[in-house]
Amino acid sequence: MVRFFGILIGLFFAGMMVYSFGRGAVEYVSNPPVKAVEYQFHEKPKEVSFTSDGPFGKFDNQQLQRGFQVYKEVCAACHGLRLVAFRNLAELGYNEDEVKAIAANWPIETADIDPNTGEASTRPSIPADKFPKPFANNVAAAAANNNAIPPDLSLITKARGGGAAYIYSLLTGYTQPPADLPEANRPGTGLHYNPYFANLNLAMAQPIVAEDQVTYSDGTKATMSQMAQDVSAFLIWTAEPSLIKQKQTGWAVLAFLLIATILAFLSYKSIWADVKSEKKKKDA
Ligand code: HEC
Repeated sequence: MVRFFGILIGLFFAGMMVYSFGRGAVEYVSNPPVKAVEYQFHEKPKEVSFTSDGPFGKFDNQQLQRGFQVYKEVCAACHGLRLVAFRNLAELGYNEDEVKAIAANWPIETADIDPNTGEASTRPSIPADKFPKPFANNVAAAAANNNAIPPDLSLITKARGGGAAYIYSLLTGYTQPPADLPEANRPGTGLHYNPYFANLNLAMAQPIVAEDQVTYSDGTKATMSQMAQDVSAFLIWTAEPSLIKQKQTGWAVLAFLLIATILAFLSYKSIWADVKSEKKKKDA
């Protein structure tokens, strides 16, 4: 009797599951979900390659220096790099004096406290300082940027799907809104249309606007695409400065494992050599 009720209850639950799944499926087919406008007009990041891509990738220090220059001259007015210290720039090939000069001449000073009065003050940066924040706090940042806070860029290539290719696409993706874009999705005041941005309109005006906006000292032609690519490469480095070291360590570990495996196999062979030959003798 108990078993009979048990089976009945089990069947009831199984039936409910099949019923609700079926209802959901019928609902989905008869009434398919409408794709949001953002979904229709949104574009996937462009195909762009970086020297650090792939298992044998390497940073191109020349490019990272150019990217740093773009960051410094174009982006730093609004975006911080709170996880990077000036001294880290040595990894891009700047020598000690250059790093000192970059820190000391940075347009935004480092926040400090006046040693005599205890009042908040600022001072020129030293290599050990992190890049100073462009705005005192988020309220000030939002007030200066149409209510949007420019995100810190230290980890941005890790924080956005598509990584550096997304940053590159965003920087080079500003365009006029298409004619068939619904009124509700058109950029409001202070917003700018960019199909690579999640909701299509963002508060950042196109930062890279003209060829030769920066003057590269290595003779590279500063096209808009080149500047966007260089700063994106620089932001790969800020997010993962030890990326290349990790890849190299990976290869070293693989080589070690390979050698260890061969050694293990050879010692197995030599340890069991006699035993096997005896067995063979017996078989013979
Ligand atoms: C005048 C200020 C300003 C400048 C200059 C500027 N940005 Fe922005 N940026 C913003 C603001 C404001 C936002 C936030 C936009 C939003 O959320 O609508 C933003 C957002 C971003 C984002 C995040 C987009 C996302 O997916 O959330 C990235 C990446 C970015 N900026 C990169 C750059 C780079 C690289 C430069 C330099 C080439 C630069 N910005 C220059 C103001 C600026």
